[in-house]
Amino acid sequence: MTTASLTLDGKTYELPVIRGTENEVAVDITRLRAQSGAITMDPGFNSTGACESAITFIDGDLGILRYRGYPIEELAERSDFVETCWLLLNGELPNAEQLKAFRAQLTYHSMIHEDMKKFFEGFPPSAHPMAILSAMVSSLSTYYPNSEEESTEVNIVRLIAKVRTIAAYAYKKSIGQPTIYPRNELSYCANFLNMMFAVPAEEYKINPVLVKALNMLLILHADHEQNCSTSTVRMVASSRANIFASISAGISALWGPLHGGANQAVLEMLQVIHEDGGDYKKFVMKAKEKDSGFRLMGFGHRVYKNFDPRATILRKMSYDVLQEMGIDDPLLEIACNLEKVALEDDYFVSRKLYPNVDFYSGILYRAMGIPTNMFTVMFAIGRLPGWLAHFKELRDDDSSRIYRPRQVYTGATQRSYIPMSERK
Ligand code: CMC
Repeated sequence: MTTASLTLDGKTYELPVIRGTENEVAVDITRLRAQSGAITMDPGFNSTGACESAITFIDGDLGILRYRGYPIEELAERSDFVETCWLLLNGELPNAEQLKAFRAQLTYHSMIHEDMKKFFEGFPPSAHPMAILSAMVSSLSTYYPNSEEESTEVNIVRLIAKVRTIAAYAYKKSIGQPTIYPRNELSYCANFLNMMFAVPAEEYKINPVLVKALNMLLILHADHEQNCSTSTVRMVASSRANIFASISAGISALWGPLHGGANQAVLEMLQVIHEDGGDYKKFVMKAKEKDSGFRLMGFGHRVYKNFDPRATILRKMSYDVLQEMGIDDPLLEIACNLEKVALEDDYFVSRKLYPNVDFYSGILYRAMGIPTNMFTVMFAIGRLPGWLAHFKELRDDDSSRIYRPRQVYTGATQRSYIPMSERK
């Protein structure tokens, strides 16, 4: 099949068909409007491809997620976050020399300009760290204003290196503690934990179990093909806005509770159930009542209609980490019970609603001592290499055009201006 036919008002149009390497099929409607005057309608983009991309493959029915062809399960088990960043950005796993150089670059660029620290003083203590993160990432463009002339590569490294420093500073600011500078001898994840939890007066021991868990969490978040935040990054980048502005927009898109903000919402929900006496069945009932406006946070996904492979990995990891750290978290038990009840309930089964990545990530972050309002920031740190790979893919494609959707207008038809004296 190389073309598809569309008949409209008695006229038939032949539309080219595109096939991906995993046999995904798309009807190319780029020229439909020019040929027929009609556009297609797909609010929420359920059946709309915005681009061709060679970064990540998802099969939602089979629960498959692969970065550059490598299964997420193998990467989570055998790779680390920095190596996965390289893979996403460059398409191949790095050799030893490339990886060493990349790690060295991330260390070299890990500090933020000393003047930028003053920005943190301007935010109120109650400021949400996602607001601080997106503002800080956007303001990096004031320090590296010639980002378009400079190599995109160095700005990519700057962003990956600095994002964890900015995130940790935002946290320190929120609890009124002095900031901790990055330490060159530490790995990417160990450095982040140290900046978050070390205090100048005390020795802070970095727990290797937490470093491993953090690496895995960040890998699981690292990319997810087109989605609200990634497509936002591509949308903004398509106007040729600079890399910092594009990523800052992605951070804002991620913040919402239907997207990356769900991990915070899940934990808050589990907490509410716990404080309410732990009757999780009551909350399952409530989620089924449309009028309640309540949803089981961490359940459901636009693409995964079988299981979310990331949730499966995280579920197991939650048990392992909590056990190794000797933590008995009642919220984990509530989460497991909630999952069990929902997976047997016809409402959830018939709608194919399964736990997603955010259902268990909050339990893990909590075990690491990361406060609830930082959960979405953790997601942003993890998703950054994906956003950057998409930014790069779009900019490297000479044929890419500005993203500019169409609409069907449903407002008033033409009418004459009414003078104030005649208005009701
Ligand atoms: N609890 C109860 N009912 C739900 C839920 C839920 N979590 N999710 C979907 N439904 C129902 C929804 O009411 C609708 O029912 P009906 O067909 O009777 O009207 C049906 O399932 C389909 O839902 P939808 O809202 O049309 O599906 P969507 O593809 O537009 O939304 C979603 C996907 C993830 C936004 C949604 O499932 C949701 O709100 N989940 C809770 C928030 C959440 O966990 N988000 C994190 C997503 S994973 C991380 C990421 O990639 O961002």
